[in-house]
Amino acid sequence: MVTARLPQAEIDLAVMALRDGEVIAFPTETVYGLGADAQNSEAIAKVFALKGRPTGHPLIVHIDHARSLERWALAVPTHAHELAEHFWPGPLTLVLKRAPAVDPLITGGQDTIAVRVPGHPVAQQLLRGFGSGIAAPSANRYGHVSPTRAEHVREEFGDEVRFVLDGGDCKLGLESTIVSCVEDTPRVLRPGSITLSQLRAVVPTVRGGADAGSPRVPGSDVKHYAPRTPLSIVTSKTLEEVVAQSTVDHERVAVLAMRPPRLANKFMTWINAGRRADLYGRDLYVNLRTLDKSGAREILVEEVPGGELWEAVRDRLSRAASAENVVAMDPDIAALRADMGEDIGYP
Ligand code: TXA
Ligand code: MG
Repeated sequence: MVTARLPQAEIDLAVMALRDGEVIAFPTETVYGLGADAQNSEAIAKVFALKGRPTGHPLIVHIDHARSLERWALAVPTHAHELAEHFWPGPLTLVLKRAPAVDPLITGGQDTIAVRVPGHPVAQQLLRGFGSGIAAPSANRYGHVSPTRAEHVREEFGDEVRFVLDGGDCKLGLESTIVSCVEDTPRVLRPGSITLSQLRAVVPTVRGGADAGSPRVPGSDVKHYAPRTPLSIVTSKTLEEVVAQSTVDHERVAVLAMRPPRLANKFMTWINAGRRADLYGRDLYVNLRTLDKSGAREILVEEVPGGELWEAVRDRLSRAASAENVVAMDPDIAALRADMGEDIGYP
């Protein structure tokens, strides 16, 4: 479905709800957000309560334009301005020193703030109409798969979120790339569809990956973005073998692969998500939801390629995987796993 603008009357109602301290859901080009007036502590507290999110885990403030940055951030360095100018509106979040007026609830008590200008036309309409910052995490319960369709938000929150602005399917489907600009050299804290090379083409000093001493990124908890069904990552070579092993007792198994199956098996649900990183990423959460509902005992995901185009997908998959199943299983490990149950650690 093409993402279009919504009638202004609908935006006006959502803006009124925000002004009344309500929590609403709205589309962005990455995933749907659960938004609250970033200047209203009670509304922000509702977001944490609805998500079941620990209060130490900071939210992103969404603004309509880089012009509004100074209200939220202090001492914005040149490299941050350069990134903002190049990638906003778009799937980039910048972590900056927070302005004194920022509610500490948003920042989880840290002295930094995450800010982003989303590009989705409905998000833009909403932000312009509201005229101030909207604090919004992804519109899912804590630790679960992020929503990429309005119906996902309704399924997850029902009547608890009265307003869900429907902007169609999210174009990108994976959360924004987060870059910390609080040190001398900017650093990627969460990979997204903007790759390290794209960032470096604008600011050559950007570093990839997080290391010790970096600001906390609670989305980097080991278990995150997870379906309810246990998920394991399996090498392509052993996929059919693991499927066979998992279905010997006629229990269902679900598979997310980049190719069709080589062997038929009536106890499996198989999704071929193809080999294009952008399309695979766009559909990842929808596919995980579908497989989660298939009645399978476990979800097996074919290991995706290395390289930066796949980095965000790899990151989300490894967090969705049950911690003990992150390693791609080779036949020996699979056999071991069968012997030892789930008790295999990983480095
Ligand atoms: O694409 C996105 O970024 C979506 C849409 C709705 O904008 N939002 C999103 O929000 O993914 P959330 O809350 O699910 O993830 C935000 C991430 C969390 O991992 C949080 O820890 C990190 O941003 N974050 C927020 N403030 C931060 C800060 N001051 N320093 C470091 N990380 C921060
Ligand atoms: Mg999230």
